[in-house]
Amino acid sequence: MVITIDGPAGAGKSTVAKLLAKKLGFAFMDTGAMYRALTVKAMRCQVRLEDAEALVALAKKTHIDLLNEPGQPLKVLLDGEDVSEAIRATDVTNNTFYIARTPGVRHVMVEWQQLMGRRQSMVGDGRDLGTVVFPEAEFKFYLDADFAVRCQRRIDELKSKGQPVDPKDLERDLAERDHQDISRKVGPLKQADDAILVDSTRMSVEEAVDFMFSRIKSKI
Ligand code: DC
Repeated sequence: MVITIDGPAGAGKSTVAKLLAKKLGFAFMDTGAMYRALTVKAMRCQVRLEDAEALVALAKKTHIDLLNEPGQPLKVLLDGEDVSEAIRATDVTNNTFYIARTPGVRHVMVEWQQLMGRRQSMVGDGRDLGTVVFPEAEFKFYLDADFAVRCQRRIDELKSKGQPVDPKDLERDLAERDHQDISRKVGPLKQADDAILVDSTRMSVEEAVDFMFSRIKSKI
């Protein structure tokens, strides 16, 4: 069974998806982490981020794996190396746009993700899972929240990790990412017609998870 959670940055998708997966005993697939991991590799290899052909060639010779271990946070492996922390750096976050907008790279990513979905029951989060990657998913959710709330959540998250944060910069970056996600030609952020909209503006993480869990449980 595949459950998809799409939505904009900062809506809480990863946190919710992770907890929902745990509750259901499913694997968790953080597709943003995959785009981020390839960004780390492109930056390390000094591939020109505007060079679509080079990015596709790089994707084809890269191995990205998501390791779900009981009781452990998801591990993101880039050619076997644990890059779970490296992928969260601000420059990686900002450069992932180049990777995510490249159709050939998305094609490779979508194939990997579909392969993972065939291997195990999972909850995946991203932008195009309900529309492109798993159009036949059993349950689709679209998790959204007001812009100001999404900004505040990101600020809190970074502060809790001890990372410096300028609220004005963060607001500008998040607005920019929203624009990039929505206006991308291939795999843009979009609510699937059959996705259930969950507005988490006034919901706690637990409430969002419980809501999704009860929708799933009522049908299986
Ligand atoms: O969810 P996130 O912030 O970790 O995603 C990182 C980037 O990857 C973000 O710029 C959007 C992009 N992304 C995408 O294009 N498609 C996905 N399925 C997941 C993420």
